[in-house]
Amino acid sequence: MAQTVAVTGGGGYVATELIHQLLAKGFNVRATVRSKADAAKVAHLTCLATALPGSVELVEADLLVEGAFDAAFAGCRYVFHTASPFFIEAGDPQAQLVDPAVKGTRNVMQAVARNKADVRRIVLTSSCAAIKGNANAAAPKVGSTYSEADWNETSTLPAEAYWCSKVQAERAAWELAEQHGLDLVTILPEFIMGPVISRRSDATSFGYMKAWLEGTAQNFAPVFADVRDVARAHILAAENPAASGRYIVATTHSTSPSTISSWLQERFPEYALADGEEMECTEIINNSRVQGELGLSITPVKETIVDMAATLVQLDLAQPKPKGPEPGKQ
Ligand SMILES: NC(=O)c1ccc[n+]([C@@H]2O[C@H](COP(=O)([O-])OP(=O)(O)OC[C@H]3O[C@@H](n4cnc5c(N)ncnc54)[C@H](OP(=O)(O)O)[C@@H]3O)[C@@H](O)[C@H]2O)c1
Repeated sequence: MAQTVAVTGGGGYVATELIHQLLAKGFNVRATVRSKADAAKVAHLTCLATALPGSVELVEADLLVEGAFDAAFAGCRYVFHTASPFFIEAGDPQAQLVDPAVKGTRNVMQAVARNKADVRRIVLTSSCAAIKGNANAAAPKVGSTYSEADWNETSTLPAEAYWCSKVQAERAAWELAEQHGLDLVTILPEFIMGPVISRRSDATSFGYMKAWLEGTAQNFAPVFADVRDVARAHILAAENPAASGRYIVATTHSTSPSTISSWLQERFPEYALADGEEMECTEIINNSRVQGELGLSITPVKETIVDMAATLVQLDLAQPKPKGPEPGKQ
């Protein structure tokens, strides 16, 4: 019989790819969403299920409502907790970012504890924001690259509220796992890119790529993770009995904006795309654990970037400007 699993924040960018892969594997997915009536955020989930072996059921649950997840997790073998606000600018960072992330994670962990007889493991979507601040203010604890041994101890609420929300939420999850004897594994991605499935367009990751495609260079050098790898890592972490602790999912190096613009210009010669600045690419992340222990292959960054850009154009989520005629040609 098909197994039932729960995914919180089901309509989000990462959760949609995770649900896509779970449905392809034949799972019954209980996807929690804030509102079933918000078709723009959730309608794609039922469409996905029609073409794949698994099935999907939408259940309403808000991170800030105590007890909201209890019924959703009943009978679930695994709980994937992806829901958490991801944006950078917030008028009230405590209320908009930290409270939903931390209180929501406590709420989810307590719901798992109340369904302990059914739930074998909870896989939490944390972030590399939980291992280092945006400015990499502290040196790695081991060697010269950040690894699962590192915890972000430098971010402050006024400067790096999203980073605070992620490190506090992951710490809360580990405390409650210990307290209730729950089997928890956490996945820590860097900045996630990669193909988009839904026409929903409010994710922070979309905004970054849409800006590139619409002619504005993004002049910082991120370390990326591919959304397909992130979803696969969640499933590998759930199904492998030996999985434990934290797993970074990311490439090892940052990518220069000049490299990103050259890949996009090569893929879309017909569009007027900005040139990115040349920046030094540094090796920042040790991603060996997820590859060695869970067998995850990391997608090459060029593929991640180009595949995401192509889906944004196909779905009309970005409107690139066509190139004008070359000088001298009319
Ligand atoms: N994208 C990245 O680069 C990246 C990198 C590292 C880690 N992550 C983590 O990955 C997870 C998913 O992020 P994403 O990129 O997929 O962002 P996203 O598309 O904005 O998804 C965020 C999800 O969280 C849900 N959510 C927010 N506040 C909520 C609340 N009060 N109650 C219930 N649900 C709530 C949203 O629900 P609605 O659908 O109702 O809006 C949405 O489904 C987050 O935990 C994020 O921190 C993302």
